[in-house]
Amino acid sequence: MGETMYTIRYVSKEKTESYRCYDGEDVLTAARRNFVPIPVGCRGGGCGMCKLRVVDGDYEMDICSKAALTEGERKQNYTLACKTYPRTDLIIVPGLLLTEGGI
Ligand code: FES
Repeated sequence: MGETMYTIRYVSKEKTESYRCYDGEDVLTAARRNFVPIPVGCRGGGCGMCKLRVVDGDYEMDICSKAALTEGERKQNYTLACKTYPRTDLIIVPGLLLTEGGI
């Protein structure tokens, strides 16, 4: 884990929250450390609870279950927070909210 930190902006229906994520840290762990309420389940890329969509910025994704995150979703920048590592500052929105026509 390096010294570099990225700023993550989490935009939900209720409010926008910004928090810092270390280089090499996953988006979910950093969110919980900063008391940002991204839903959490297995923490292993298998359940889809932490699904979100990246609307701006670059990231790397570790192995995620195809059941939790489909190919179609991946192409639309959906990802699983527990397996997402920022490469730049990010703007993210909740994945489940979007499917309800949220933001
Ligand atoms: S917490 Fe289960 S996929 Fe991220």
